[in-house]
Amino acid sequence: MARIVERAGARGEDAPVQLSGQAASVGTVELLERSEELTLLREWMAAVSEQSKGRLVFVCGEAGIGKTALLRRFCAGAGESVRVLWASCDPLFTPRPLGPLLDIARETAGELRDQVDGGGKPHDVASALLRELESAKPTVLVLEDLHWADEATLDVVRLVGRRVDSVPVLLTASYRGEQLHRAHPLRIVLGELPSTSVTRLELSGLSREAVVSLARWSALDADELYARTEGNPFFVTEALAADTELVPATVRDAALARVARLGASARGLLDAVAVVPQRAEVWLLEALAPSAREALDECVSSGILRTEANGIAFRHELARLAVEESLTPDLAAVLHRRAIAALAEPAIGPPDFARLAHHAEAAGDRRVGSSLRPHGSGARGLGGRSP
Ligand SMILES: Nc1ncnc2c1ncn2[C@@H]1O[C@H](COP(=O)(O)OP(=O)(O)OP(=O)(O)O)[C@@H](O)[C@H]1O
Ligand SMILES: [Mg+2]
Repeated sequence: MARIVERAGARGEDAPVQLSGQAASVGTVELLERSEELTLLREWMAAVSEQSKGRLVFVCGEAGIGKTALLRRFCAGAGESVRVLWASCDPLFTPRPLGPLLDIARETAGELRDQVDGGGKPHDVASALLRELESAKPTVLVLEDLHWADEATLDVVRLVGRRVDSVPVLLTASYRGEQLHRAHPLRIVLGELPSTSVTRLELSGLSREAVVSLARWSALDADELYARTEGNPFFVTEALAADTELVPATVRDAALARVARLGASARGLLDAVAVVPQRAEVWLLEALAPSAREALDECVSSGILRTEANGIAFRHELARLAVEESLTPDLAAVLHRRAIAALAEPAIGPPDFARLAHHAEAAGDRRVGSSLRPHGSGARGLGGRSP
């Protein structure tokens, strides 16, 4: 596997764009120093379309380095001739089998959906996915946060990766490199894939010039900001949004300083959203935090939460984690227990056992947790996911 980009050499500034569709929800973003990566992705996509020969690209880098922002920007500009399929892995204690494939199958329907909904084996799901990709126009298939993937999903990636050059797809998978300990299952997948059609795009922090440019309206000392953040875009943007007099010492401090600017009800709502990985439905939040609805506007307009089609989420997982880790154990347990009660009788559809198991485990209720865990799936903790 080639290490294509050590660091973006280009200092170009891509003009802000308004994103839409699958890649939306980030709004207008100033994306600095990613011209080289965007050009490579566009060239690879053009080659996939012209030759009907797929490629697998791993976009890697530490938490907050800008993997999602880069992929959103790329997908937003992919054009009508390309189909975008986007799915993410969830940071659950026990990831849902084929988690991201459920999202993909919902979009494509057909045989793939039948396989995924029917709990098909990875081999059959991979074959159905390859047939789906073969039968449609060229596709960008984004699989986000593969470090959290369940084992069945990793098997599908391994199987599709081996035959990716036979279908018109640019399969882009992101992961946090620092989370791949020696025995991490994704590390094994990476080692097994053929180097001919697999590339790794490694993202680096922003340069001092870029940090200075982002801090141009701030009273913070730009050199100190750069030194402290090492150009990590999430850290930089949170530190700027926190609007404190001094540069926060850590990513967590930056995220919490931003939260501290909000009123009590808004902070109560953030506590509730923080115990729910990925996103929380409004009915679930109402069960967790009595003042959820009134406080929502403040949290969204401050840029800490965002509304999605099917719920409310932290704008960034790292901020969710900072708030979650700041909860007292008692409050966390109360919130998880309320989540269990609400999710056991959801407002819409059947109970989601993966989510129930997650809250049971977090609440320390081993009895409920083990009875809910899907058969055969080993628990994978969230250890090491903090920056
Ligand atoms: N090139 C960039 N220029 C300016 N801001 C950026 C850039 N890349 C990312 N950002 C900002 O930093 C934040 C974090 O980026 P992003 O969510 O893409 O990181 P990530 O690598 O996906 O992190 P994680 O591993 O936690 O998912 C974004 O919300 C965005 O505001
Ligand atoms: Mg991301």
